[in-house]
Amino acid sequence: MTHLALNETEPGCASDGVWLTCIECGERFSPFETVRYTCDDCDGLLEVRYADLPTWDEFEGRGVWRYSSALPFETGVSLPEGGTPLHDVPRLESDVGVERLRIKHEGMNPTGSFKDRGMTVGVRVAQEMGVDRLACASTGNTSAALAAYGSRAGLETLVLLPRGKVAAGKIAQASCHGARILEVDGNFDVCLDIVGDLADEGDVYLLNSLNPFRLEGQKTIGLEILEQFRDEEGTYPDRIVLPVGNAGNTAALYKCFRELTASGALPMEDVPKLTGVQAEGAAPMVEAIEEGWKETRRWESVETRATAIRIGNPVNASKALPGIRETGGTAVGVSDEQIRAAQRDLAEEGVGVEPASAASVAGLRVLREREDVSADERVVCLTTGHLLKDPDAAAEAGSQPEPVPGTTAGVREHLGLAGE
Ligand code: F0G
Repeated sequence: MTHLALNETEPGCASDGVWLTCIECGERFSPFETVRYTCDDCDGLLEVRYADLPTWDEFEGRGVWRYSSALPFETGVSLPEGGTPLHDVPRLESDVGVERLRIKHEGMNPTGSFKDRGMTVGVRVAQEMGVDRLACASTGNTSAALAAYGSRAGLETLVLLPRGKVAAGKIAQASCHGARILEVDGNFDVCLDIVGDLADEGDVYLLNSLNPFRLEGQKTIGLEILEQFRDEEGTYPDRIVLPVGNAGNTAALYKCFRELTASGALPMEDVPKLTGVQAEGAAPMVEAIEEGWKETRRWESVETRATAIRIGNPVNASKALPGIRETGGTAVGVSDEQIRAAQRDLAEEGVGVEPASAASVAGLRVLREREDVSADERVVCLTTGHLLKDPDAAAEAGSQPEPVPGTTAGVREHLGLAGE
């Protein structure tokens, strides 16, 4: 069984309950004996599969490892991650015009992005494999998470970043957590090509989202949203809107829904519509959805101020596109100006997010205006990274500091306040 649809399972494998399956040809592999990222036979993407599927009553504790029964290990290198807030944003909710709008703020993770969820599992697997050097290509956040979790585990970390296109906060994190940083003369996709070659040669252990174990950790975003929303709103959300770069999160959420529907924990009619948002200047997933393609076309030239999602060749497209389609979702492109406006809207409600994260809200607004989202929908927007990740973008989106003299009188005068 290759691609699984909602409510479908692969017949169990006798061994120890977890294995890797190629989503293209169905070949199965033992998970921890040999390092591999794609299928030996056809180079298709691999997926982690389990004999036992998750049910709600077995989850215990808080954060990513609350969901250990749906993960390959009981615990891992933890800082700890997950357990992020699901904010109310009443003004934005009525302004956008939906029945309910909640913001799942993944910027509240230890290194300020959702990547920590994938890294706690990924680094645990790296330990199991006995590797000593971890690496990734990154638009910034993955490198920050890799550096933090890798150094916590006492492993060497190497990150390849597109030169001049990574936000200051993220480079500072990767650097201070002790990663070796290579600034590549090329965009993210070129960085991933190179680090993929190094990984194929066995020189590094790759922790990009091509690594199927990363997505297992990120799957817990879906589990957490469903539990939180259900407990607080008495129902599951109709739609989850998220920014898309490499489409790892989209694939991870879809996998979460598949496992829950297959175990009977989530009724088919309650599966949220997966809705992806990209920057107009880097939108191969939007193009593939609009054109009805099964794969994306690589965009050689990409540009957006939301540098986290400045990606032209989403490696997880073949896992994510069926998820968007099968859940009845869609994908939409937004301009940098729409992203900036959404970043300010969220900030006005006290929710500080980086530009890529604000794309989710910008996309929801566009879809609502087009009537592709209806007024009676209950929506969760995923905000993937913290405001301070990109201080320059935050300062551009916000108000300008005003120089004043160092006296009360001078300040009063500047503010136009009467008297001394
Ligand atoms: N939002 C933020 C803040 C990100 O950093 C990323 C990806 C995404 C959204 C897109 O997620 O790839 O799962 O579709 N950042 C990667 C990185 C590429 O290197 O930090 P995706």
